[in-house]
Amino acid sequence: MGQQAVPTFHTGPYPFGANAFRSVENFLDATHFPFVHAGLNGVMDTPDQINDYKVTKGPDGLATTGVRVFQPYGDHRELPVHAEYFYRALRPTTACFDKHVKIADPAQAHRGSDEDRFCMLLTAQPLDEVNCIIRLAVAINYGPELTEADIRRRQDAVFAQDRAIVETQHPERIPLDLRAELHLRSDKLGLEYRRWLKELGVTYGTYGDEPPPRAASQPG
Ligand SMILES: [Fe+2]
Repeated sequence: MGQQAVPTFHTGPYPFGANAFRSVENFLDATHFPFVHAGLNGVMDTPDQINDYKVTKGPDGLATTGVRVFQPYGDHRELPVHAEYFYRALRPTTACFDKHVKIADPAQAHRGSDEDRFCMLLTAQPLDEVNCIIRLAVAINYGPELTEADIRRRQDAVFAQDRAIVETQHPERIPLDLRAELHLRSDKLGLEYRRWLKELGVTYGTYGDEPPPRAASQPG
């Protein structure tokens, strides 16, 4: 009783020429915001220092405590916000976040409240080991003036940027040997995601015990 229906919007499908797990891992990674989504989800010149968050694992996958970032255009209102992401990886190719948003500009604060939530569910449908289709469901409990076109415009822009970066990742399949790629403290969720895939016995679309091939030309 008393629960208001929250508008939910479906965007995509977005075909990615990329591995489904790499696409999910990218979705779960807050460190790429200032670089991949500069001007939207982060500021390239002043990237956020990601706080030390926790990852827990249960029957329904992985869940994080809050990951806090500043976003100059953090949601469909086109306003700067302080955002806190609570991520979940529910299944290997299904993930979501519950983002708490607080308008950063005091002059615009009347357009929001402390209860503002922006939630997104992502599914990655593998077509083969290196191609997938991304679909999104977005639910927001604020901004009743926002139209489906407003939602779609921002989602399309953000996922075109994600697509461009994920399609360049090598090796194309996701390595489950945790030594295969450099991991930082801020990558904790990505690291736990790979560990979880390995525990689940996922082999399709991964490099498990076999070493991933080296890129033909290594930068630097
Ligand atoms: Fe992204």
